[in-house]
Amino acid sequence: MSNRLTFGEELGFKRQSEGFSTKAIHLGQKPEQWNSRAVVPPISLSTTFKQTAPGVHSGFEYSRSGNPTRNVLEACLAGLDNAKFAVTFASGLGTQTAIISTLKTGDGIITGDDIYGGTNRLFRNLAANMGIEVQFVDLTDLKNLEQSIKPNTKLVWMETPTNPCMKVIDIKGVADIVHSKTKAFLVVDNTFLSAYFQRPLDLGADIVMYSLTKYMNGHTDVIMGSASTNNDELHEKLRFYQNATGIVPSPFDCYLVNRSLKTLSLRMERHFFNSVTVAKWLEAHPKVEKVLHPALLSHPQHKLALTQTFGHSGIMSFYIKDASLEKSSKFLQVLKVFTLAESLGGYESLAELPSVMTHASVPEAQRAELGITDGLVRISVGLEDSQDLIKDLEQAFDSI
Ligand SMILES: Cc1ncc(COP(=O)(O)O)c(C=O)c1O
Repeated sequence: MSNRLTFGEELGFKRQSEGFSTKAIHLGQKPEQWNSRAVVPPISLSTTFKQTAPGVHSGFEYSRSGNPTRNVLEACLAGLDNAKFAVTFASGLGTQTAIISTLKTGDGIITGDDIYGGTNRLFRNLAANMGIEVQFVDLTDLKNLEQSIKPNTKLVWMETPTNPCMKVIDIKGVADIVHSKTKAFLVVDNTFLSAYFQRPLDLGADIVMYSLTKYMNGHTDVIMGSASTNNDELHEKLRFYQNATGIVPSPFDCYLVNRSLKTLSLRMERHFFNSVTVAKWLEAHPKVEKVLHPALLSHPQHKLALTQTFGHSGIMSFYIKDASLEKSSKFLQVLKVFTLAESLGGYESLAELPSVMTHASVPEAQRAELGITDGLVRISVGLEDSQDLIKDLEQAFDSI
């Protein structure tokens, strides 16, 4: 790495670790593992593998329990988070299902209050139906965590930055409390920043999980999830649930995500630059009440973001001044470069209204408490030219 300051360092973020891009390109990809010496790992579609004698195989029996293309991806994913193991699943939510399957009736989960709507739904319904107690807590204040701990607390779950309010939570602070005061394990959903901008295992988390569907794949053409860990016991359990529940990704999708990781650092740097450019422009706009972006000095946990992350992605939110559902809807409908759609993390810019889209399944009272109003717009800033994105937002503001 040269002595030149990176964009993140110029803004005061931590200096990116050396070797990240090299790992993303080479880990798990050795041509020597294939008879053909293929440089690009092949897509191994066979569902079954020949055995030399009954029960004697070359490491692969049946593609649900193990697949060569999936192994390549998992080796690469593990390395990016400095983990010993990574286990992939058919979606981010599939990963979360496997993680909560490690709990038993009577166990308790403490989770951040501002989490992805689908995770909220999974906890409120599936986990609750399994007889698991779920507490939603504002983890920006660590006292709330300490006060919520009970003898049955077995899992602490957090996202940072949170979705869609962009609250930043102290991963090391949470991990220290979890490990000193409970026998629980800590999971960090790192979907919003990717392994490039935040490495929760290095800060004390037990599992880092992803909706790979977002930045890690980055091309809006795969649904997949993963969990990485250094804990042998947790790894064994997750590996067991991967096979036992059958929530597995396809070899073709594994190939696509593995390919996408090769450009992760390049994509993330551009998302970061574009989102900061757009955030600063929005903050100065008279029709904007507030912008939520951790790189802005106005962000309540800006200083914390600088100490635990290497930068920020393209995801951010803002409040339109004096907005109604009608006004926000008009704003979103007239956008031309941004597409009105759910999801995030792809090369293309997207915009959405969490109150009636991604977070519609969050109970109304909880939405109101969190500030998920009809004026809160979430955008995923893509890789286009930032000035074209600004022009698009400008014409949308002019229309309301
Ligand atoms: C932060 C976060 N976690 C988990 C998920 C669920 O992932 P998937 O859609 O891949 O099941 C999402 C999806 O939007 C997400 O944004």
